[in-house]
Amino acid sequence: MATNRTFTMLKPDAVEKGHIGAILEKISASGFRIVAMKLTQMTRTDAETFYAIHKERPFFGDLVEYMTRGPIVAAILEKDNAVEDFRTLIGATNPEEAAEGTIRKLYAASIGENAVHGSDSDDNAAIEGAFHFSGRDIF
Ligand code: RTP
Ligand code: MG
Repeated sequence: MATNRTFTMLKPDAVEKGHIGAILEKISASGFRIVAMKLTQMTRTDAETFYAIHKERPFFGDLVEYMTRGPIVAAILEKDNAVEDFRTLIGATNPEEAAEGTIRKLYAASIGENAVHGSDSDDNAAIEGAFHFSGRDIF
């Protein structure tokens, strides 16, 4: 995958609250092109694998429960400087610390349930995109 791409998930809380449309509108208006997208639900193994880096953290069990409790929207996004610009668009992990106008400031309830995921590096964007999508589903 090219390094001008990032990977996102609209997490179960965002889907439950009916925020898919508003969040996708904000992503598109911010200059990202959607190159792959689907509504899907992570299995326990999927979530444990995807967030394996956090497996020793005290919140890991809650994180896996949260990420598997309902559907998510998974997507690959393209834009110059995609990883960094998307992290700016979503805001800090804790919505109380997120800048005004960011997706987490607008739509996240708490540090645990924070509406959206964004890859934190080009390498992880490629790994995470490949976790959810294969060749013919990426445009
Ligand atoms: P993400 O990977 O989902 O984009 O979030 P992030 O980089 O901003 O934050 P990260 O440190 O990677 O944490 C992953 C997700 O774990 C949950 N979390 N809960 N209760 C807590 O203290 C806590 N800390 C993190 C959040 O859902 C966070 O996005
Ligand atoms: Mg992270």
